Amino acid sequence: MKKNILVTGGAGFIGSNFIRCAFKQPGFKGKIVNLDKLTYAGNPENLAGIQKKYRGRYVFAKGDICDYKTVLALMKKHDISVVAHFAAESHVDRSIFGPKDFIETNINGTFTLLEAARTFWAGRKDVRFHHVSTDEVYGSLGAAGKFKETTPYDPRSPYSASKASSDHLVRAYGHTYGLPVTISNCSNNYGPFHFPEKLIPLVILNALGGKPLPVYGDGLQVRDWLYVEDHCSAIWRIISRGRAGATYNVGGNCEMKNIDVVKGICGALEALAPSAKNPALGGRKYSDLITYVKDRPGHDRRYAIDFSRIKKELGWSPSVDFKTGLRRTVAWYLANEAWVENVKTGAYRSWLKKNYK
Ligand code: NAD
Ligand code: DAU
Repeated sequence: MKKNILVTGGAGFIGSNFIRCAFKQPGFKGKIVNLDKLTYAGNPENLAGIQKKYRGRYVFAKGDICDYKTVLALMKKHDISVVAHFAAESHVDRSIFGPKDFIETNINGTFTLLEAARTFWAGRKDVRFHHVSTDEVYGSLGAAGKFKETTPYDPRSPYSASKASSDHLVRAYGHTYGLPVTISNCSNNYGPFHFPEKLIPLVILNALGGKPLPVYGDGLQVRDWLYVEDHCSAIWRIISRGRAGATYNVGGNCEMKNIDVVKGICGALEALAPSAKNPALGGRKYSDLITYVKDRPGHDRRYAIDFSRIKKELGWSPSVDFKTGLRRTVAWYLANEAWVENVKTGAYRSWLKKNYK
């Protein structure tokens, strides 16, 4: 593929993994332009070395997806024919304490990108706007069943409501203006470069520091975990071969109760960095740090994904099982002390201030 891709939010967790994944695709010869506002969740260190390795094929642009002029200028300048839209405010807890940024970036930002794409592409069909969305738009499941692409939307947090809204806009642009759009609704990702506000990296880093491991409510909520590289390969397939206008659910076939995830992390840590040798633990085991705390307001009980459409149409299924993925993830956080320190201390923010206006 010779097409140039505009990745939004490429300095975040999934976006940065996607950029690495895209450059590794044997047939991809195009350029990647990464438009990222560098919010607290954006960290160019997530892409360290990429500029050098793919000289001339990687461009970083600090900017806001809500800024129409910037988006349109980038699309024109780099002759963009694929948009892979990751940029979002992504953390449910933050959306509960302050929803405004979620409405601005997730809804208005997506609208702005759609408008720029509609204007620049002017009816072309050899282009693609791919919107990365979440399974949370479908609401919460009972004990049985899985989310299908046909499951009615029932978002229940400001985050999921903003993502649902953006999904509707993307579909509307496909339907009304014939913009070639695709959407993926994916379950919980985990893996390298995950910002430690989310359950898995938070628990790994708290455990290593001998701090409490907070489990919301009774800890029996279920999430369907997917290793981030599997998510990226699914997105690549959708961009390259997915039907215009289609939605694809992407999941890990890996339903886990939160408490079991936390215990699994403690187990992986005991194997790779035993608590007995960690002075921060003072003789305790990692699992001794598990602490039940007040529940998240409106906490969705269970998510599970039926990914049979992407499996049938595009031959995609997850390739990394949870035990392997979790071990890899824990090993990555242990091996990348400098990244962890910069994120924990906020040093990456001052570096950003110095290097980017
Ligand atoms: P993240 O929070 O790690 O990264 C978001 C990135 O977007 C950051 O680099 C941030 O600087 C950038 N950004 C935020 N506002 C912006 C703006 N206005 N303009 C330009 N850039 C902006 O998020 P993530 O976990 O990598 O998620 C990426 C996408 O995948 C999101 O759309 C999210 O809804 C979706 N998703 C995430 C998961 C998951 O488990 N993390 C699962 C399913 C879907
Ligand atoms: O399902 C996909 C979604 O997964 C994405 O759309 C979101 O962007 C992503 O953040 C994630 O949302 P969750 O709310 O499921 O992820 P989080 O890691 O915040 O929480 C996972 C589960 O763990 C959830 O049930 C809440 C619980 N939890 C979370 C934290 C941070 C705890 O019990 N303790 C915690 O400290």
